[in-house]
Amino acid sequence: MEGEIRGVLRPGFPWCDIVILAVTDSTNCVAMEMAENGAPHGTVVVADAQTAGRGRMGRRWESPAGKNLYVSLLLRPSVPTVDAPSLALVTGVALADAVEAVGVPAALKWPNDLYCGGRKAAGILAEMASDPDGVRHVVIGVGLNVNVVEDDFPPDLRGTATSLRICTGRVFRRVDVLARLLDAFGARYAEFIGGGFASLRDGWDRRDFLRGRRVLLRRQGGEGWGTADGLDTVGALRFLPDGVLATESVHSGEILDFQR
Ligand code: BTN
Repeated sequence: MEGEIRGVLRPGFPWCDIVILAVTDSTNCVAMEMAENGAPHGTVVVADAQTAGRGRMGRRWESPAGKNLYVSLLLRPSVPTVDAPSLALVTGVALADAVEAVGVPAALKWPNDLYCGGRKAAGILAEMASDPDGVRHVVIGVGLNVNVVEDDFPPDLRGTATSLRICTGRVFRRVDVLARLLDAFGARYAEFIGGGFASLRDGWDRRDFLRGRRVLLRRQGGEGWGTADGLDTVGALRFLPDGVLATESVHSGEILDFQR
């Protein structure tokens, strides 16, 4: 994988270094450790396989060798700490740009999932370190199922997870998808730094998987059904709980279920 990546990728804004690993526990763990040791803004960590790939809420991320993309982006953004979580949404929009650039229609499920053909094809895990002076670093991990087929998934994921290959019948060069992702992220990141999430909200809105759907939301204080009504200018989910008249802005939460 290393030769292929080096042959295709050229460092470009905001990327300064690409660390390529054959196998590691988790690219997010590697990137967080590198960040603590002073690695610069714009460091990318890519692995061919992960032995302990991590998903949100303590879940595992299936990470077989030679099939998918496992990549972590190390950023040191000059933004207020409260704005840093939006970088996961920025990454979602960039990932959708990249997936569509290789010919696969993509939808975005708030907060951190990419769907293709009604199933989850990718997830994003953002981790941040901050202190009273502000954000020290953010690591954004992206796991994208590229060339896995249905039989590669463990039984509990069959029927809910997908890949670019399952959706199209085509086999993709992972490095091409990675190159598109890094390019798209550069463009979307510049938009975000220039004008906040509002400046790329269009890129989310037109791919919003949940808008108008009934969803089961878990957030601080409990869980309940309601209707998703798009995102606001800072990327919070507009949510109309069942039996309530006013839409609420939800800044952090998880969609546990939705009506298909
Ligand atoms: C999720 O949907 O729960 C998020 C999945 C994030 C997986 C990626 S793969 C690269 C990076 N390294 C990890 O251990 N996790 C993220």
